[in-house]
Amino acid sequence: MTVDNKAIWWKNATVYQIWPASYKDSNGDGVGDIPGIISTLDYIKSIGVDVVWLSPMFDSPQDDMGYDISNYEGVYPKYGTLEDMDNLLKQVHDRGMKLILDLVINHTSSEHDWFKESRSSKTNPKRDWYIWKKPKYDAEGNRQPPNNWGSYFSGSAWKYDETTDEYYLHLFAESQPDLNWENEETRHAIYNSALKFWFDKGVDGFRIDTAGMYSKVQSFPDAPIVFPDVEFQPCKEFHQSGPRIHEFHKEMFQTVTSKYDAMTVGEVGHSTREDSLKYVSASEKEMNMMFLFDTVEVGSDIGDRFRYQGFELPELKDAIIRESEFTVGTDAWSTVFIENHDQPRCISRFGNPSKQWRVPSGKALAALQSTLTGTLFIYQGQEIGMINLPKEWDISEYLDINTINYFKAWSEKNKPTDEGYQKNLDVLLANINLLARDNARSPVQWDDSEYAGFSTGKPWTRVNDNYKEINVASQVNDPNSLLNFWKKMLSVRKEYSPALIYGNLEVIDKESKENFSYYKVNGDNKAFVTINFTESPIEVKSTSSDTFKSVVCSGDSQEESLEPKGTVSLGPWEAKVFVSV
Ligand code: GLC
Ligand code: CA
Repeated sequence: MTVDNKAIWWKNATVYQIWPASYKDSNGDGVGDIPGIISTLDYIKSIGVDVVWLSPMFDSPQDDMGYDISNYEGVYPKYGTLEDMDNLLKQVHDRGMKLILDLVINHTSSEHDWFKESRSSKTNPKRDWYIWKKPKYDAEGNRQPPNNWGSYFSGSAWKYDETTDEYYLHLFAESQPDLNWENEETRHAIYNSALKFWFDKGVDGFRIDTAGMYSKVQSFPDAPIVFPDVEFQPCKEFHQSGPRIHEFHKEMFQTVTSKYDAMTVGEVGHSTREDSLKYVSASEKEMNMMFLFDTVEVGSDIGDRFRYQGFELPELKDAIIRESEFTVGTDAWSTVFIENHDQPRCISRFGNPSKQWRVPSGKALAALQSTLTGTLFIYQGQEIGMINLPKEWDISEYLDINTINYFKAWSEKNKPTDEGYQKNLDVLLANINLLARDNARSPVQWDDSEYAGFSTGKPWTRVNDNYKEINVASQVNDPNSLLNFWKKMLSVRKEYSPALIYGNLEVIDKESKENFSYYKVNGDNKAFVTINFTESPIEVKSTSSDTFKSVVCSGDSQEESLEPKGTVSLGPWEAKVFVSV
């Protein structure tokens, strides 16, 4: 079997991401679980989903919500058992869908047996499975980390371990030690435990967590100082797409993944186009596709999302153009996404979350996402237009380690007596409210009963106050709901797949701050999509000499056809999709 001739199912697919803790609780303990997921599979299928991506459900102390795995071959007891996973797989397959899991293999939890052995002594056979370095000492003789690398979750990326008087590397939390991919035995243990074990159970692939980070520059040099106001610095250039990363991916593909009919999607981010293509060109035989972060990072500093500048519509277009052009003229494939468990809600970020415009802007964004090229990923709750946490909530409602550490580090540096303290604090809190991962992690709103039908008990994290207005039950039978609009868009996407899933993007009126309008072109198959990103009516002129017929109007109007170089009227936040006749 070659990769190419079995490629089609995952290219056409719409993927629905489930983040288990907050999805659906079956036993009233306030934590989502696998039986809960199983109870909703008909709903997921009804949206038009082909593949379910389940975020980590492995055994874990949950310091980073399961991205800290203590046993790849076990299930977190609150989520269920291996038997529940077998059942989930069967039920997903029975409905003609596929199931992919998260592959978190840059690091494990410090509670993983491998790390417990590794930290126990310098001579333990697994010592070299993680990255250990001697302390440095400054002029005053104080012990310092081996270099100035900063963790993604604030502070140093190194943690001192008294047992052996050395530091270990953790690019994320202290309890997420990085595995040493330089060690061949470690790599093969990973392949067997994290991949093969689950492939043999029948899973259909993986979303590969932090897939660009396994290979570190082995001299571990200090990073350049880009944020003089903090001690530890972003260090991507020393671990993102490092010297041996492609060798590792090729080995993993050859050793395991190629033996199965698998879909793989990497979380890579922040590499050059040329380098990104090495991961996802079919001929490279590494992975099928990857997430690009241009869109979700619009307006933020890529080294620190809470340093937020804001953006204008042309910048969003540029990001989408970059992501869309990424695979043009290559044998590579790409993805489309605007939400996941690490991102805020898209209506709050790119639309208008007010009562009046929430649904129209949600439809506009659904139309945008459903007409872009690549495999489409939607995140739990996105289909019903869940929005960010209320602005009034106290910072103590934010439970994500990333948010907590960031706020703590900031609070230690900034004192109420500092000039401009209150203003800076307000800016930070607004940015946290806009961008924190917590926004994606509040319980899914199923109905208007207490706790939004997510659970009969008190949820582990607070339900958004708006659950009576935004929930699945109220949308299922409402023909004008966002949920039904998504269903429509997903079927239109499949019906006109040559242009919508595979076509090239040609944006017109690129400088406009009001409309986002583009053709999708694939030979004779053409679509024209035009979206109003404002709260006022506007008009947009088609530049094409083709005649189009209307297939979607997200607002009230019913366009029949669009003449060559014709004009389209758009209501506030209205989106229209046309196809050539
Ligand atoms: C990825 C995950 C994120 C996690 C991190 C560390 O970025 O998406 O949720 O915190 O990796 O595993
Ligand atoms: Ca539960």
